[in-house]
Amino acid sequence: MKKDLVSILDVRADLSQLLDLASNLKNIQTANEPYEPLKDKSLAMIFEKPSTRTRVSFEVGMTQLGGHSLFLSTADLQLGRGETVSDTARALSRYVDGIMYRGFEHGRTVELAKTASIPVINGLDDLEHPCQVVSDLFTIREKKGELEGLKLAYLGDGNNVCNSLLLGCAMSSMNISVACPDKYRPDDRISKIAKDIGKGSKASVEIINSPEEAVSDADVLYTDVWVSMGDEAERKSRLKALARYQLNGDILGKAKEDCLVMHCLPAHRGEEITNEVMDGESSIVFDQAENRLHVQKAILVHLLE
Ligand code: CP
Ligand code: NVA
Repeated sequence: MKKDLVSILDVRADLSQLLDLASNLKNIQTANEPYEPLKDKSLAMIFEKPSTRTRVSFEVGMTQLGGHSLFLSTADLQLGRGETVSDTARALSRYVDGIMYRGFEHGRTVELAKTASIPVINGLDDLEHPCQVVSDLFTIREKKGELEGLKLAYLGDGNNVCNSLLLGCAMSSMNISVACPDKYRPDDRISKIAKDIGKGSKASVEIINSPEEAVSDADVLYTDVWVSMGDEAERKSRLKALARYQLNGDILGKAKEDCLVMHCLPAHRGEEITNEVMDGESSIVFDQAENRLHVQKAILVHLLE
């Protein structure tokens, strides 16, 4: 049966195997050795929203694995003129070996995966960003040696990245504390699932208002934009409500001394994160961006080979 990556929960059973594979693929790439398990395979990449990292890392990743990718913006597809998601899925399934989809509504990602006969990878939607978070877990493991027992504090908007982090941390026995205003809490259903998973994996999962409380004893501080793609109309009210959650030098000083700073990027410098922190010694944001490539190659091999 074909496998998808629509939610990070889809790789729950395979997560550590996936991180090990990514580590092998990173070593192979660093040694400049050819490794082409996806020779003659094609990946259709559908983008309804802009992207720098996801697009380039998937495209380069497919090339490095011996395969081929097609960049398809909504403007290039009949999808943009009203063809249904399911008809698009059925047609593409006759040509390519996998679909990566970045869209607005999670329901459309689910429908695409349900109707395609080939693997579908969620490259971000309004609910989750699973490729980002699998990759972030890899980066944290690479820097800290292990995941179990660490504490990640997420400050700001309870958005798609935050939702996937809640699940990913709970799955990895990492404690997670999300600090956000009530209005911008992460998804309730996902928070409940993360708490349930956390009970079994001994990970504490909390969603609170106080950034100071969240960062206390944290090994990793994570933030993301206050205005995600699709939320632009709420820009003014979001900036006001989230101002207290900025990742700046003061709040970093309240975490552990060897605390890492992460951001999925793109960053809005001066809003959710200051220049001082983003460019400071604790920041690993560009290592994080690089690892998207290695981890997504592992995801592609896992799903498409
Ligand atoms: N982090 C991330 O997905 O970046 P892009 O929007 O540039 O793909
Ligand atoms: N939360 C952000 C992530 C961008 C990679 C957004 O959805 O725009």
